[in-house]
Amino acid sequence: MIQGSGDIYEKVMDLAKRRGFIWPTSECYGAVAGFIDYGPLGAMMKRRVENIWRDFYVIQEGYYEIECPTIAQEAVFVASGHVKGFSDKMCQCPHCKEFLRADHVAEGGGVAGAATMANEMLAAAIATCKCLACEEVLGKVEVFNFNLMFKTSIGPGSQRTGYLRPETAQGMFVDFTRLLRFYRDHLPFGAVQIGKSYRNEISPRQGMIRLREFTHAEAEIFVHPDQKDHPKFSRYADYIMPLLTATQQEKNEPAVSFSMQDAVAQRLIANEYVAYYLALTHEMLVKIGIRPDRLRFRQHLCTERAHYAADCWDAEVYSDRFGWVETVGIADRTDYDLAAHARHSGTPMTVFIQYGEPKKVQRRRIVPNMSVLGKQFRTKAKAVFETLATATPTVDGADIDVDGEKIHIPPELFEVRNEIFEVRGEDIVPHVIEPSYGIDRMCYAVLEQAYDEDIADGESRTVLRLTPCVAPVQVAVFPLMNRDGLDTIAMEVTRTLQKKGLLAEYDDSGAIGRRYRRQDEIGTPFAVTIDYQTKDDRTVTIRDRDSMKQVRIAIDRISETICDLVNGSAQFSSL
Ligand code: GLY
Repeated sequence: MIQGSGDIYEKVMDLAKRRGFIWPTSECYGAVAGFIDYGPLGAMMKRRVENIWRDFYVIQEGYYEIECPTIAQEAVFVASGHVKGFSDKMCQCPHCKEFLRADHVAEGGGVAGAATMANEMLAAAIATCKCLACEEVLGKVEVFNFNLMFKTSIGPGSQRTGYLRPETAQGMFVDFTRLLRFYRDHLPFGAVQIGKSYRNEISPRQGMIRLREFTHAEAEIFVHPDQKDHPKFSRYADYIMPLLTATQQEKNEPAVSFSMQDAVAQRLIANEYVAYYLALTHEMLVKIGIRPDRLRFRQHLCTERAHYAADCWDAEVYSDRFGWVETVGIADRTDYDLAAHARHSGTPMTVFIQYGEPKKVQRRRIVPNMSVLGKQFRTKAKAVFETLATATPTVDGADIDVDGEKIHIPPELFEVRNEIFEVRGEDIVPHVIEPSYGIDRMCYAVLEQAYDEDIADGESRTVLRLTPCVAPVQVAVFPLMNRDGLDTIAMEVTRTLQKKGLLAEYDDSGAIGRRYRRQDEIGTPFAVTIDYQTKDDRTVTIRDRDSMKQVRIAIDRISETICDLVNGSAQFSSL
């Protein structure tokens, strides 16, 4: 396993471009930073990662997937806080004129605490730092906020401002009342969305790690604010994984492994819901091929938490090139979003929670003397009754304000009654637990960790050790020779495998060794070879990409065997 050389990035990206995983977009016009194309193999691998995500959230958790537009009207992002606050601090290099993220300049120059500095203070602090582009010392610069949303207009004439969504989450919040009805008015429930999000990053230089258009996979789980125990917590109660808590970071201590049960009991993680999705994320990332020793979960410090979050953790994956990279965020967003959308839209976003037993509560009711007050106030009487009902009277009567007019109601014209009411339940604003995945970062991590070089048959070989469930081509089929009927049998085998839903690639060109090498380089985990013995005994060989070992099995068992190997229910070593 090659590791730690720092140049794996170049090798991975070279392979990715050459073999059709990822390449720069609109290259013939000069690529634009922050945008990439997934080529034929990359798009397939990405789809497999997305479908594993769906398997966890839609199939296993039962949270249905919805699909909202990627553009939303301004009101949505005014309410969410993005119009006002979704910005990075930016400066411009006075020498090369490049726009730079001021916090990245500070980080590069060893200036600590940039995240919490006011703009003027940050400008002073980075004056002695070097430009990240031309490497000149910056000198006097201005630091200002740059909103990361792409702004557009909806319809002709620019009458209506819209924004490309910076997260898929808002679509699920603004659909809350419809989702609540879909889930028959009961908490907890969840909805998920997978699709493009957009952030107009200031100066993206990190390939797939910082994209201006990226694939976001988010779950929004609506829970009772006082019931944050996950109903299926036992699934992960004993799951042990490395946690880097805020306190450990403050003390400069490394991540420590905890079971989810202990972490919640010791209040390191805010609640069972957050702990459950931390563990689920760990399981999923390992499933797609992330090595556990390159994975940690880091709690946000209170200074870095998003404006909406009560507790927030990042799943970070270690990259040879980029260090620890935030790949998944898991946050308790409280009632921030639903309360904000209810306030801004005027639509209540609550759930009626019925009590086990109705509660008896005492309420004060002000009963006006309708006949006297009705005659006295005539057209204004209704407004007077309504205002009086909410007044705080004294023994001298009640002073109320109706449309700016101050009115005194003497005590003999109303009665204050204390009455017992039966209350069946209450309206509450649910809290939201949000696991949010950056699919492109997951794909990059998968590629980087799968990349390897070794020696095969005395020659160096490049191999992508992709876990079978994410490999774009799942099986290759080779006739040993392109004649004597071997090619016909190989085509029949390919067709049988394809009918099982496997992506099987037939290849009869060149020496068999070269064909293996081509598939090794794109991570195809298994190769089936049809040779002369096949004609005698109806057996074929299956070759394992990693060990390069081969076993013979009956041709009739080939599709079942490859399916089991690909979905992980069988291991090559046990064939
Ligand atoms: N929805 C979480 C995020 O955008 O990071």
